[in-house]
Amino acid sequence: MGFTRRGLIATAAAITLSAGLISGHAAEAAYPERPITMIVPFAAGGPTDIIARIVAEDMSKTLGQQIVIENVTGAGGTTGSTRAAQAAPDGYTLVMGHMGTHGAAPALYPNLKYDPAKDFEPIGLAAGTPIVIVARKDFPPKDLKEFVAYLKANADKLNQAHAGVGSVSHSTCTLLTSQLGIKPTLVPYNGTGPALNDLVGGQVDFMCDQIVNLVPQIEAGTIKAYAIAIPERSPSLPDVPTTKEAGLPDYQVSAWNAIFAPKGTPADVVAQLNAALVKALDDPNTRKRILDLGGVIADKPGRSPEALHELVVSEIARWTPVLKGANGK
Ligand code: MLT
Repeated sequence: MGFTRRGLIATAAAITLSAGLISGHAAEAAYPERPITMIVPFAAGGPTDIIARIVAEDMSKTLGQQIVIENVTGAGGTTGSTRAAQAAPDGYTLVMGHMGTHGAAPALYPNLKYDPAKDFEPIGLAAGTPIVIVARKDFPPKDLKEFVAYLKANADKLNQAHAGVGSVSHSTCTLLTSQLGIKPTLVPYNGTGPALNDLVGGQVDFMCDQIVNLVPQIEAGTIKAYAIAIPERSPSLPDVPTTKEAGLPDYQVSAWNAIFAPKGTPADVVAQLNAALVKALDDPNTRKRILDLGGVIADKPGRSPEALHELVVSEIARWTPVLKGANGK
């Protein structure tokens, strides 16, 4: 079989073209090739922001691109979460969601613009965040029993801070106040970072917040901690009793923070992001930063996208009746 000059040129051209396509595809597949945005749907300085910055810093090293935190506040975290759900599914927009935005929100926002269980690709659980009942440092009750009695006697004169309807601080304190049968005045903030500033300043009376936001202030004595709402004391707050020890055994609640990408983000990108998160949570320094703040790090199986999807589904099921009941719906 002879080769004509024309045939050789055509073959060379075909080889060149396919090589270009392969390399072009390869270049296109070199994710990430530019910085990634991680939306934090609350103000800087709060628990969601704290967890996001810790894990993003470590993940950036593995991914070779900066993960830039963008605080997009409002509506109990649903504004930023909606922004993420509607972003291009290309791996360059993520959101640090949590038990509020991806668990409680559907019960409280009838027109929520996203379905937490359908409109995201779960990446993985970053940290569990037990809830602590805290108050301004000169709040009169000296222990949880007195705190409960004081709230029941003075609810109409008391201010409870939270980070917006459906946020963790709002949902978990709704659980508490509905158990106590009281309705204090609710004072909303764009995050429990700013709320904590006002609690330290004595402008509000109490709140239910994620431990990772509170340890330094509790240790410094600038706020008062009454109890932590998990079965065992936290190693980071060894002097803070559990709600069970302190006489409120029914109040058991822990939140969580987790990374999500928009639905349709390619599976290989999801896998790469999950691998970077899993590696971050195995890094001794990153682990220490989270654990010292009282965060809880899941074991390997608990960090998978599948585990996060199951958590979202179960949390929506858990919180919907609690919150609809508390709001008389
Ligand atoms: C909340 O849900 O209360 C938020 O996590 C508070 C925050 O992160 O600022």
